[in-house]
Amino acid sequence: MQNIDRNPPGLVVILGTGGTIAGTAASAASHVGYQAGALGVEVLVAAVPPLRGLALETETLARLDSCHMDHATWAALVRRAAWHLARPEVAGVVVTHGTDTLEETAFFLHRTVAAAKPLVLTAAMRPATALSPDGPQNLFDAVTLAREPGAHGVLAVLGGVVHAGASLRKVHGYRVDAFSAGDAGPVALLEDGRVRTLRPWPAGALHDAVARAPQRLREPTGWPAVDIVTSHAGARAAVIDALVAAGARGLVIAGTGNGSVHAELRAAAQRARAAGVVVRRASRCLLGGVVASDAGEGGATGNAADLLPDAGVLTPVQARVELLLDLLAAG
Ligand code: SIN
Repeated sequence: MQNIDRNPPGLVVILGTGGTIAGTAASAASHVGYQAGALGVEVLVAAVPPLRGLALETETLARLDSCHMDHATWAALVRRAAWHLARPEVAGVVVTHGTDTLEETAFFLHRTVAAAKPLVLTAAMRPATALSPDGPQNLFDAVTLAREPGAHGVLAVLGGVVHAGASLRKVHGYRVDAFSAGDAGPVALLEDGRVRTLRPWPAGALHDAVARAPQRLREPTGWPAVDIVTSHAGARAAVIDALVAAGARGLVIAGTGNGSVHAELRAAAQRARAAGVVVRRASRCLLGGVVASDAGEGGATGNAADLLPDAGVLTPVQARVELLLDLLAAG
């Protein structure tokens, strides 16, 4: 029996965007063949009996399979999350989302929403129609976390583990324990309806774009194109040349190891920079990011003229969000 405080500290608003948590399959045995985002968020809430009687509001913003996540939905999320968090009667906001791009949305919200209250993302690896769906428990845990006194920041809870939105990454394609915060580790645990903190709640880290380009942030038309290119054996410069020709304003190169970049791509990246495109390099490794070296990209043999700026600890998809915001802030 889970421990539920029936004297809620405030209202929780649940914003639905789709995902497997709202997915339905033809067969209860199916974990991978289903339609994501089929159900509205109010249906998900109704499937969690312990949520009955709590002060909840629901709003379905989108019904996306999150592999199709778009800037319009991100802009709507920023607008609605910020608006609800500013309401005095609201204790926290929950966002239901697909797992596939959860880490991107989490990092984007971390950099764009002043979350003095909990802004909690959750998702599920199994559709709502599965024999043993993980969504109902995750949603219950997310609401519990959103009502937790003192909690704040952009957080994600799945499988009873709370991660900072700034560090979240998906590390498995189908297992229920598919998320990690990498070297940062979890922030808290959800145990039988109670929150056990392991370290302080994450500090806010608003990007300059929030102050310098608030209107552009809320209105996604015309956001600059920022693309990711992976460095690999046999990489071709033509990929970068084609993206630049197609209007890319920023490029993140998911480099090998500590952010090293195939010579073909490096030459094309320098041409792109000369044409005004902003280029950053991250690492395609799961952990570690890029540790800057005095010799720069290319190591001891690197030519100083060829150095490409690195994205530090950010993963390639996080680096893409950061560069997008940098370009928005720059106008
Ligand atoms: C999605 O990301 O929307 C589909 C996959 C999932 O939620 O697990």
